[in-house]
Amino acid sequence: MISEKMQKALNDQLNKELFSSYLYLSMAAYLEDINQTGMASWMRLQADEEHEHAMKFFDFILRVDSKVELQQIDKPQIEWNSPEEVFKASLAHEQYISKSIFEIVDLATQEKDHATRTFLNWFVDEQVEEEASVKDIVQKFEMIGESKGAMYMLDRELGKRGAQAAH
Ligand code: FEO
Repeated sequence: MISEKMQKALNDQLNKELFSSYLYLSMAAYLEDINQTGMASWMRLQADEEHEHAMKFFDFILRVDSKVELQQIDKPQIEWNSPEEVFKASLAHEQYISKSIFEIVDLATQEKDHATRTFLNWFVDEQVEEEASVKDIVQKFEMIGESKGAMYMLDRELGKRGAQAAH
C-alpha cells in the first residue's frame, strides 16, 4: 500500500500525462492545419505515447490497491506561430514532465517506497529518450532557418518516422 501523499502524487502525474497527450494532439491539429502533415503525424504518435504513459500510472495505482482519481484536464494551447515554436514548446513541456517525475522519485526515496521507486525507473529512462529526440528536432529547425526546401525535407522525415512506428 502506498501513502496518501504518494497516491496524490501519482494521480497528479496521471493527469499530467493525459494533459501531455491532449497538448500534443492540439499541436498535431495545428500542424495539420498549416499543412505540415509529416510533423502532424509525428506529434499524433507522441499523443498516443502520452496516453500509454497515463495508463501505466492508472494500472500501477490500481495494482498497489490504491485509488485512481481522475481529474479535470486543462485546455491546451491551440495556436502557435510556427512549427519550430511547436517543437520548442514540446521540449519545454518534456523538461517540465521530467522535473515532475524526479519529484515523485524523491518522494518515493524519502518514504522508502521501493515499489513506486522501481516503477518510476522506466519513466526516468523514457524522459531521457523523449527530451533527446525532441531536442534533436529543435536543433534541425535551428539549422534549416528560413529554407523552405529544408523544411519540406524535415516534414517528410518526421512523417516517415510516424508511419514506421504506426506499423
Ligand atoms: Fe509522458 Fe513525454 O512524457
